[in-house]
Amino acid sequence: MGVNCKPPDLVISPMSIEHLDDLAELESMAFSRPWSYDALAEELQNPLAVFFVAEDVETERALGYIGMHHILDEGAIANIVVHPGYRRKGVATRLLNEVIDYAKRHDIKRLTLEVRVSNAPAIALYKKMGFKMDGIRPGFYDSPKEDAAIYSLYL
Ligand SMILES: CC(C)(COP(=O)(O)OP(=O)(O)OC[C@H]1O[C@@H](n2cnc3c(N)ncnc32)[C@H](O)[C@@H]1OP(=O)(O)O)[C@@H](O)C(=O)NCCC(=O)NCCS
Repeated sequence: MGVNCKPPDLVISPMSIEHLDDLAELESMAFSRPWSYDALAEELQNPLAVFFVAEDVETERALGYIGMHHILDEGAIANIVVHPGYRRKGVATRLLNEVIDYAKRHDIKRLTLEVRVSNAPAIALYKKMGFKMDGIRPGFYDSPKEDAAIYSLYL
C-alpha cells in the first residue's frame, strides 16, 4: 500500500472476510497490542458488532475501519484506525459519521469510547466530532500502562 497525497476516493461498507488481512495489518501498524486477524474474524460472528471499512475505490485496499458494539440504546466504539499514509484526509471523520448515522437510525442515545490520555490526534478528532469527556479510568491500558479518558457523544 503506497502513500498517496490526494484525498482518497472512498467507499464505506460493512466489514467482511475479504477485509480482514488489510485490517489486521492496519492494527499492527497502529497499536502495541493490535487486534489479530482471528479477533477481527470473531466480530463477524458477533451480533452486537457494527464494523465499517473505508476502502480506496481505485486500489480496493482498506485504508481504515471503525468498530462499535451496539448494546440496547448505547454504542461502544471499540476501535478506529486509519492507515498512517492516509491520515488528516478526513477518513476517520467519514467512518465516525457512518457510525453516527447508524446510531441515529437505530435509536442509539449515546456513543462512548475510551482513549489513551496521551493520544492527542484521536482526542482532537473526538472533540471535533462533538464528544465530551466523562472521566478517567486509571491504569486502564497496558503496554505501556496508561489511564484512559472516557468520551461520550449524546445523540
Ligand atoms: C486518530 C485517527 C483515527 C485519525 O484519523 P484521520 O483519518 O487522520 O482523521 P481525520 O483526517 O478525519 O481528522 C479529523 C480531525 O481530527 C483532528 N486530528 C486528526 N489527527 C490529528 C493530529 N495528528 N493532530 C491534531 N489533530 C488531529 C483534526 O481536528 C482533524 O481535522 P483537520 O484535519 O481538519 O484539522 C488516526 O490518527 C489513527 O489511526 N491513529 C492511530 C490509531 C488510534 O490511535 N486510534 C484511536 C484509538 S482510541
